[in-house]
Amino acid sequence: MSLWKERFGVPPADQVVAFTESLSFDVRLAGDDLAGSRAHVRGLERAGILTPDEREALLGALDQVGDELEGGRFTFVKGDEDVHTAIERRVIEVAGDVGAKLHAGRSRNDQVATALRLYAKRELQALTRSIVAVQTVLADRAEEAGDAYLPGYTHLQRAQPVLLAHHLLAHCWALARDVDRLVATVDRLDVSPLGAGALAGSSLDLDPDAVAADLGFASRFENSLDAVSDRDFVAEALFDLALLGVHLSRLGEELALWSTEEFGFVHLHDTFATGSSMLPQKKNPDVAELLRGKTGRLVGHLTGMLTTLKGLPLSYNRDLQEDKEPLFDAIDQVGRGVAALEGLLATVGFDLDRMRVAADSQEAAAVDLAEWLVARGTPFRQAHGIVASIVRDSLERHVPLPELVEGHPDLGSEAVALLEPGVAVTRRTTPGGAGPKPVADQLRNLRRRLEIDGERVGRG
Ligand code: ARG
Repeated sequence: MSLWKERFGVPPADQVVAFTESLSFDVRLAGDDLAGSRAHVRGLERAGILTPDEREALLGALDQVGDELEGGRFTFVKGDEDVHTAIERRVIEVAGDVGAKLHAGRSRNDQVATALRLYAKRELQALTRSIVAVQTVLADRAEEAGDAYLPGYTHLQRAQPVLLAHHLLAHCWALARDVDRLVATVDRLDVSPLGAGALAGSSLDLDPDAVAADLGFASRFENSLDAVSDRDFVAEALFDLALLGVHLSRLGEELALWSTEEFGFVHLHDTFATGSSMLPQKKNPDVAELLRGKTGRLVGHLTGMLTTLKGLPLSYNRDLQEDKEPLFDAIDQVGRGVAALEGLLATVGFDLDRMRVAADSQEAAAVDLAEWLVARGTPFRQAHGIVASIVRDSLERHVPLPELVEGHPDLGSEAVALLEPGVAVTRRTTPGGAGPKPVADQLRNLRRRLEIDGERVGRG
């Protein structure tokens, strides 16, 4: 049965159904569609369209349909082109004539937008909570790392030693921005479109404010045309998830790199690593690689959605049905990735000796020598030149750096102490810097931020 069978007198061709159906993917909106329908039923009663008995009959039928769907006892039939059609069809079967009153004053256009907003709101909130959980693991690992340090890199070349805690917290702050963005996206999407009808509202005495409140939305739509056309929330969510994906990818790339024999900074726990079907000795960082690899499709979903939306005239167009699969897939993939990352980070072993040895090259303290000179009055450019030529000399003539520093008229034995292992990192004292003092402050600030964000996203 199609919803417009009396208009055409014939069902759509099989190819049309195959091409235009969305049931295969929007079935996951069943619970949200039922919630929207329950609120609509209560609204119809308030509007005097349904008697209290009819309201009860419809709510009872919706409950039964919900049970059938949940229990896997719901039978879809030919003509159920989407989950909304299927549910209405079944409500009519269950409730008889009164079932036919369900769709008064409503269109699938406002119905679909309502269900998708309810879905996005709930799922994005849950995802945001799981990001905070990953941040908490990162903060715990940072705290546990204490004063351990490793080389900090620019251009993937060793630059200056930094605390391991500082490095881990850098990723944490990026995730804090993701949380912030998702919270803002949820705030903006928290608007009910129900009552917009097909595009223009209704002649029935419906109250979209009351329905919005019933559904837990913060407000209702202001403009019915906008309400059924607006998929900004999908595009925004896809951007948030794509950028989050980029952050996860960056972290995944580092873990993959750090787990190589060449770096050897981390050992993946066996439960978060994979083996090779052919090479018995292999231990592969597949989780880290997929955190990196999945990001391609996230960026693709965002690009695809924006391209679909571009150039659509007001108001609803069937193109909008293309909003669902990218959103569902992005939420699924990122949700699973974040959960896997939490375990990966909680179990990864840090080889602090390898990190320290890699960071203790004397050249890594070069800027400290230059700043030591600056503190004694030498202009920085000149100090940079002095140290650069000593480093070059050391490398070219294979003379140990301390020897050249010791013998240099502007430097001498006091400056040699800067080259001692572990000294350079302690000299990063400015706020937000990589040394022990500012990192302790930073960790406190981050913990406070996690407290606040934990409240914002709910403990769920
Ligand atoms: N499955 C459709 C969607 O997701 C339902 C809306 C259909 N509306 C219509 N006027 N054909 O957008």
